[in-house]
Amino acid sequence: MSEPDQPRFTRPFLKWAGNKYRVLKHILPELPAGDCLVEPFAGSCAVFLNTDYPHYLISDTNPDLIRLFKILQREGDSFINYAEKLFTSQNNNEQRFYQLRHQFNTTTNRRKKAALFIYLNRHCYNGLCRYNKSHQFNVPFGRYKRPYFPAREMQHFHIKAQQAEFVCQDFRQTVSQAENGSVIYADPPYVPLNATAHFTSYSSNDFDLGEQEALARTAEQAAQRGIAVLISNHDTRFTRDIYHRARLTHFKVRRFISCNGQQRNEAAELLALFGPGQESVGFG
Ligand SMILES: C[S@@+](CC[C@H](N)C(=O)[O-])C[C@H]1O[C@@H](n2cnc3c(N)ncnc32)[C@H](O)[C@@H]1O
Repeated sequence: MSEPDQPRFTRPFLKWAGNKYRVLKHILPELPAGDCLVEPFAGSCAVFLNTDYPHYLISDTNPDLIRLFKILQREGDSFINYAEKLFTSQNNNEQRFYQLRHQFNTTTNRRKKAALFIYLNRHCYNGLCRYNKSHQFNVPFGRYKRPYFPAREMQHFHIKAQQAEFVCQDFRQTVSQAENGSVIYADPPYVPLNATAHFTSYSSNDFDLGEQEALARTAEQAAQRGIAVLISNHDTRFTRDIYHRARLTHFKVRRFISCNGQQRNEAAELLALFGPGQESVGFG
């Protein structure tokens, strides 16, 4: 069964595992008002695109993602037109896909690499983003009939990006850069629901349970500086434990969580708000 459409929200231009597009209606009302929204786990930027803060600090450890955001921010239409040239029927077959994937992994041309990242995102299996130990993108061909080129979504991103600074770095560094008056929305890779739920990895470094605990401690420290931090995660005993000092809300969501990406299950999600109880920005 498909989810009801959400016409009032802006769609990210990238497919991204764990993206929050479908649960924005639960997250946005929990975000306090502020001068700047800091997003240390950017992914496809669903929250950035659907909020209205004066400024944004957006970061992620994936260098391909941040490079792409910076180029699209700077160039807009000229980059969109350039990237669109890769979306042809001649490029939508297995042989061409692996040639272009090889070009992505070997090119030193930043603009070409950024365009190829969009091509791979729309032509690879389930839009996954996965690398081997040498940071080579290794997701296989996706066999889509006619992959969609997200021109309109990229244009929205380009406009919105004029309010943002994009940085490739670890969440600790980004949180430490948050200034008074900022609000942090942290959406780390999900804690696994069980040992076999590790269906994907976001970069060559795994975000393990130690990292999840470190994020919770970092959030507490930011809250002690007067900065509110909202964290998203699965609702499990582990997350309830590490976020026990936060104000918790929870909701259910239908999403793809099986290994083959075909089955949908209902997963419980948790939102943990650390810090001063501030007025909601009222997007709900
Ligand atoms: C669940 S996704 C974020 C999804 C995003 N909220 C959206 O709506 O698309 C988690 C992101 O965390 C990034 N990440 C993993 N480890 C990180 C780290 N140590 N510091 C910062 N970002 C990290 C991954 O590259 C991935 O893009």
